[in-house]
Amino acid sequence: MKAIVVTDEAAGTAGMKLVEQPEPPAAINDVIVQVHASGFVPTEMEWPSTWTDRRALDRAPSIPGHELAGVVTALGYGTTGLSVGQRVFGLADWHRDGTLAEYVAIEARNLAPLPGDVDFTVGASLPISGLTAWQGLFDHGRLKAGQSVLAHGAAGAVGTMVTQLAREAGAFVIGSGRAADRQKALDFGAQEFVDLERDSLEDVGGVDLVFDVIGGDTGKRSVGLIRAGGTLVSVVGPPEVRPADGLAVDFVVEADRMQLSEIVQRVRDGRLRTNIGDVSTLDDAVAALNPTERTTGKTIIRVRP
Ligand SMILES: NC(=O)c1ccc[n+]([C@@H]2O[C@H](COP(=O)([O-])OP(=O)(O)OC[C@H]3O[C@@H](n4cnc5c(N)ncnc54)[C@H](OP(=O)(O)O)[C@@H]3O)[C@@H](O)[C@H]2O)c1
Repeated sequence: MKAIVVTDEAAGTAGMKLVEQPEPPAAINDVIVQVHASGFVPTEMEWPSTWTDRRALDRAPSIPGHELAGVVTALGYGTTGLSVGQRVFGLADWHRDGTLAEYVAIEARNLAPLPGDVDFTVGASLPISGLTAWQGLFDHGRLKAGQSVLAHGAAGAVGTMVTQLAREAGAFVIGSGRAADRQKALDFGAQEFVDLERDSLEDVGGVDLVFDVIGGDTGKRSVGLIRAGGTLVSVVGPPEVRPADGLAVDFVVEADRMQLSEIVQRVRDGRLRTNIGDVSTLDDAVAALNPTERTTGKTIIRVRP
C-alpha cells in the first residue's frame, strides 16, 4: 500500500516521504480500514508517540495521521460491533501507525459508524477537533448553561468546535486569535472576539471556563480571568499557573464511540459545521502538509478519490 512515513524527528513534516509499505495485519479486536480520508495535526511531529511505542522504544519509520474516515475491509480475532463493508470514522492510537496510508489497523472501539450521508472528507475532519472540544467542555470543564467560555484560537480546528458546542450548551463565548481570524470566529458563533496581538486580554473580565489551545503567555494571562469555581482546560501541556480558586485540567483526547456519534449527528442536522481548509490527494500530501503560506482550517488528505 501507499503510505506517508517519517523517520527523522528533527526534520518535522519536511521529512515526510510517500513510500510503498506492506498492509498492516489485524491484531485482536482490530479492524482493517481502507482509508478514504485522513486528518493530520501539524504538531504530531513533536509528540513522543510519533517516534516511540508504549515501551518508549523507537518505532520509526512511523505513519502519521490519527483521524480517519473509511470502510472496514477485515476483522481481527474477537472483533465485535463492526462489520466488513461498514463506513466508519474515528481516532487512531497515538503509538501505532496512523492514517496517512491506504489501510490502517485500528481497535474497533476507536471507531464509530459514519452515516451514509456524511462525506468521508467531513468524517475525517471531526475526530480530534470534535472529541477534544467535547471532552474539554463537558467531561473536564463541566460546562453549564449560562456560563461564559473564553475559547482561545477560536478560528482553528479545535476552537471552532469549542465555540459551536459551547454555544449549543447555552454558554456565552468569547473567542480569541489573530486579527485576521475575527470574522471567522464570529461566523462560527463567538459573541465577542479578542485580538491577542492588539487587544488586552485582561479587558475580557471574568469567565467560568478558559479553553486553551495556545499555552505560553496567553495561557498564563488567562488564569487571572477565571472566576471562583471556574476551570482552565488546556490541551497544550500542564498549565504553569493555576487559578487561585478553581481547577486546572490538562488532557489528551481519547477515542469515544458515543461522543463521535453525538458529534456526527450534529453535523447531519446542521448544529455543527466543520472547519476544513485544504483537501489534497495522498500523492500530493507531502506538499499539502508543508504549506509555504499560512493556512486556515484543517488540511484533509483524501486518500481514495
Ligand atoms: N491534548 C490534545 O488532546 C489535543 C487535541 C487537539 C489539539 N491539540 C493541540 O491544540 C493546538 C491547536 O490545535 P488545532 O488543531 O486547533 O490548531 P489550529 O487549527 O492551528 O488552531 C489554532 C488557532 O490558534 C491560533 N493561534 C495560535 N497561536 C496563537 C497566538 N500566539 N496568537 C493568536 N492566535 C494564535 C492559530 O493561528 P495561526 O495558525 O496563525 O498560528 C489558529 O487559528 C495544537 O497545539 C494541538 O497540538 C491537543
